[in-house]
Amino acid sequence: MRLNSPQINIITRACMKASRSLIRDFGEIENLQVSSKGPGDFVTSADKRTETIIIEELQKAHPDYGIITEESGIINKENENNRWIIDPIDGTTNFLNGVPQFAISIGYEEKKEIKCGVIFDPIKNEMFYAEKGGGAFLNNSRIRVSSKKKLKDCLIITGGPKHSSQNRDKIYSEYINVSKNILSPIRKFGSAALDISYVAAGRFDGYWQRELNYWDIAAGLVILREAGGLVDFFENDEKAPLKKNILASNSHIHNELSDLILKKNIE
Ligand code: IPD
Ligand code: CA
Ligand code: CA
Repeated sequence: MRLNSPQINIITRACMKASRSLIRDFGEIENLQVSSKGPGDFVTSADKRTETIIIEELQKAHPDYGIITEESGIINKENENNRWIIDPIDGTTNFLNGVPQFAISIGYEEKKEIKCGVIFDPIKNEMFYAEKGGGAFLNNSRIRVSSKKKLKDCLIITGGPKHSSQNRDKIYSEYINVSKNILSPIRKFGSAALDISYVAAGRFDGYWQRELNYWDIAAGLVILREAGGLVDFFENDEKAPLKKNILASNSHIHNELSDLILKKNIE
């Protein structure tokens, strides 16, 4: 670990502590898959348990900081200058199905600007982290976005529309439009936090998705930018500041990918 600001240390400690119980819970999933009740309720409690551990750890260090979390909502609402942004399990559906592609995501915001973030995949033991101005890292190694310049050769990842999506047709047509312009099929891995981290690490070249929540991507924003990537929010609803449509990629393909998604480039 190269960065050692107090905030990164606090987040990392919280992640490591919470991940021990998360790994134990993931081990239980296999048994629950075959039980008549199924793993649904268990996963909800695993989510809450993980979040509780994270909140306790973060509050030990700074009881006065604001917190935005997926499961418990907003804590210490009045403090908007120092805020933790938490997703205890990003990739819940994977977790529920015993698929090892999920992560804990924790970001730290100062005066509404994201300053540092940690995304920890406890199964692969991969910790992606960054602090503004300090570069981005995976475990002990510096990471950078890919240097591919031709969109056609790029590996692109996205999520799909949610069941409740109001933008289903739009999302499908974006998908078709992007896939017509690249050689490899579009990937879908089911964890927004890891999707962005993988772009930061150069494993994928670009990622876009509508209808995310801020906690899905807060930590990923600083990791991606510190790895040299570009992030755009598009067509966001100002009345719903925690909802985000995002495009993240290396700088070479950013405009071309953006034009395809925003339909400036349909034949
Ligand atoms: C979900 C994941 C998924 C994305 C969904 C998110 P959750 O978060 O990030 O990749 O497609 O939009 O809601 O529910 O697993 O924390
Ligand atoms: Ca999430
Ligand atoms: Ca979640």
